[in-house]
Amino acid sequence: MNGPGEPTKRTEDGRLLRQSADSGTVMIETRGVSKHYGPFVALADITITLKAGEMVSIVGPNGAGKTTLVNVLTGLLRTTTGQVLFKGHDIAGIGPVRLARLGMARSFQLVHIFPELTVEETIAVAEIARAGKAGRLWASVRGDDAIHARVREVAAIFGLDTKLDRPARVLSQGDKKLLDIASAFALAPEVILLDEPTSGISTGDKHGIMKTLVEAARTANVKAIILVEHDMDLVAEYSDRIIALQEGRILADLPPTQFFADPAIVAAVVGMKPVRHA
Ligand SMILES: Nc1ncnc2c1ncn2[C@@H]1O[C@H](COP(=O)(O)OP(=O)(O)OP(=O)(O)O)[C@@H](O)[C@H]1O
Ligand SMILES: [Mg+2]
Repeated sequence: MNGPGEPTKRTEDGRLLRQSADSGTVMIETRGVSKHYGPFVALADITITLKAGEMVSIVGPNGAGKTTLVNVLTGLLRTTTGQVLFKGHDIAGIGPVRLARLGMARSFQLVHIFPELTVEETIAVAEIARAGKAGRLWASVRGDDAIHARVREVAAIFGLDTKLDRPARVLSQGDKKLLDIASAFALAPEVILLDEPTSGISTGDKHGIMKTLVEAARTANVKAIILVEHDMDLVAEYSDRIIALQEGRILADLPPTQFFADPAIVAAVVGMKPVRHA
């Protein structure tokens, strides 16, 4: 994994991700999305787009609705009103397998791994899903060289190739996060959503994780990323655009220079953030 050191270099056109022929194409689109829990309005009137070539951060104080939005954007939660389209498909209620087939993957705020599976097995599960071999017996997959090779390749990108036979439960918090992210990358997604990939990680290591992540995305030709992040230094460095949520509504949807030039917006996002105990 990369250390803090140098910031991640942007591409010649100032972007973080590799640009492709379809850069600028709308990948995710929401129209007037709301999510209610009984009388509580967790999201209201969310209309956003994510285009190929973009890395977009979602920010906001605790409870602003960031995770709810990610859950809605990935079809894990049904909206109360409004639609979520991924490449033009309505993805309401789509399961993770069909979502991955369409080209979207995510990682979770709270690490989402099976503690007893090894690093190799964890990434292999995603790779098997991607390759459409889920119906095969685990025993026959074990002998599949193509899957082994690809699992090693993905593990190496995230610095986990020396830990393939360790059960996930013994990994450090940082490595658990990376394993969760590696599993999402193993699905070879076009779009990836990362809910606080650096939470619970010490400040010095956060940059390393983000650099690893962006480089992995470039290598894997990921077209667009949505990142939920509290650390404003990381947000400033790793966003083409920033969407700020406050009490379930969009407070701002701006490029970083304009976002950070508006003290009222920054105060609403940072100032209201309660102290968190990692
Ligand atoms: N299943 C649920 N039932 C009722 N309320 C919920 C549910 N899930 C989330 N909420 C509420 O919705 C609001 C938004 O929660 P959400 O987890 O999306 O916030 P967040 O911005 O991700 O916060 P954090 O920065 O702490 O991760 C919160 O007030 C939360 O308590
Ligand atoms: Mg959250």
